[in-house]
Amino acid sequence: MTEKRLEGKIALITGAAQGIGKATALIFAKEGAQVIISDINDIEGNAVAQEIGGNCIKIWFVGIPGAAPYAASKAAVRNHTKTVALYCCQQGYNIRCNSVHPAAILTPMWEPMLGSGSERDTRMAEIAKEIPMHKMGTAEDVANAILFLASDESKYITGIELTVDGGILAGASASIKKQS
Ligand SMILES: NC(=O)c1ccc[n+]([C@@H]2O[C@H](COP(=O)([O-])OP(=O)(O)OC[C@H]3O[C@@H](n4cnc5c(N)ncnc54)[C@H](O)[C@@H]3O)[C@@H](O)[C@H]2O)c1
Repeated sequence: MTEKRLEGKIALITGAAQGIGKATALIFAKEGAQVIISDINDIEGNAVAQEIGGNCIKIWFVGIPGAAPYAASKAAVRNHTKTVALYCCQQGYNIRCNSVHPAAILTPMWEPMLGSGSERDTRMAEIAKEIPMHKMGTAEDVANAILFLASDESKYITGIELTVDGGILAGASASIKKQS
């Protein structure tokens, strides 16, 4: 049997009822982590907890949505991560801190923007055209990047920003567009 990549580790995963959080919770549990999930959606959250089974404890809390705080919080994650990473090094703590930056990941978050039927197909195609890899990512694509950062395979990595975006931040606007 191959060794599990997160054996002996404890993970707290927020927003784990759906999307990236759910995919991460499922992969972490499969890789042997003790998973604690948190979400404001208790119905879907319970379903994820059931799927994970005995490997999971769950808690819920609430937050206030809004565009400006959303954008500000995303920007804050970047520098907060690096500050925490350096602080932990300085203090001699065996704690690493890295951030993951997804973009164009097809999760339930996108549904209100995509619509349904043929309109949905058109919008998906428009979005894909702007992405260098010409497709949206999956929640599992992000979860696998998080898995790497949470595992000992990344033990010499701290303070980084790992983008999972099909090449968007590499310069999407400058790339050759796919013909539709
Ligand atoms: N999907 C993308 O393309 C994308 C791009 C950039 C950033 N992100 C970020 O990645 C994260 C996950 O995105 P996703 O696409 O999986 O979103 P999603 O909407 O599919 O899932 C988010 C989950 O978080 C839960 N949640 C919301 N507020 C909460 C709170 N205060 N406490 C606990 N749970 C809460 C929701 O109930 C939901 O289950 C988000 O922070 C999102 O902003 C996603």
